Amino acid sequence: MSRQITLIISRQDGPETTPYKETFKIDYRPNMNIIGALMEIQRNPVNAEGKHVAPVVWEMSCLEEVCGACSMIINGKPRQACSTIIDKLGDTITLEPMNTFPVIRDLAIDRTRMFDSLKRVCAWIPIDGTYDLGPGPRMAENKRQFAYELSKCMTCGVCLEACPNVNSGSSFIGPAPTSIVMLYNSHPTGEMNQEERLDALMGEGGITGCGNSQNCVRSCPKGIPLTTSIAFLNQAVNKHAFKKWLTN
Ligand code: SF4
Ligand code: FES
Repeated sequence: MSRQITLIISRQDGPETTPYKETFKIDYRPNMNIIGALMEIQRNPVNAEGKHVAPVVWEMSCLEEVCGACSMIINGKPRQACSTIIDKLGDTITLEPMNTFPVIRDLAIDRTRMFDSLKRVCAWIPIDGTYDLGPGPRMAENKRQFAYELSKCMTCGVCLEACPNVNSGSSFIGPAPTSIVMLYNSHPTGEMNQEERLDALMGEGGITGCGNSQNCVRSCPKGIPLTTSIAFLNQAVNKHAFKKWLTN
């Protein structure tokens, strides 16, 4: 008999319904990723008991660990389904949706809270109009290299999932939306709005929600120096608050 992979998948028919586990078996193929395994189930949605069921729902887009859409908990660890190869996981694999985000259906989650947090911290550089502005300002090489590392964030949500301070009892926006302020504030054009961003980090759910557990930096698939960035911002927020206190 050919080698088989058992997938135990957490399923949920809708946002308000009770989750349940369903087991599927697929034939092993070398170098298959989790998305490939889910596609096998989609082509033939028959569970391990031989019952024809609704195909499993998940989200994906780039298929190269750039968009963050396929993030889920694989064998207990939050990561991307497109870059996780089953050869490294053993013959029994569990798939669950991340807990920090509401479930839409099965493994598809709603990451709106992250995008709302990016809006809150003004995670963009305002450009006045669409006309040619000429070449952008130059950045010092060491600053550019740090900014490049920060810019790799794909809003996957894994650092929020790993952070003990992001939970239903806390309004903390989480590591990625906090750290991203460093990216925009270090940009020569973006720094024009740095005070606005620091203000956004000062309020309820802002940087004081960080408990320095360091789980975020250990879990980030892109190796983003989240804790370094958050430490810089902590100083910047304190200076900003002191300056405001002096001038008010
Ligand atoms: S900082 Fe890393 S773990 Fe957090 S959302 Fe961005 S890419 Fe994902
Ligand atoms: S599909 Fe984009 S990160 Fe996996």
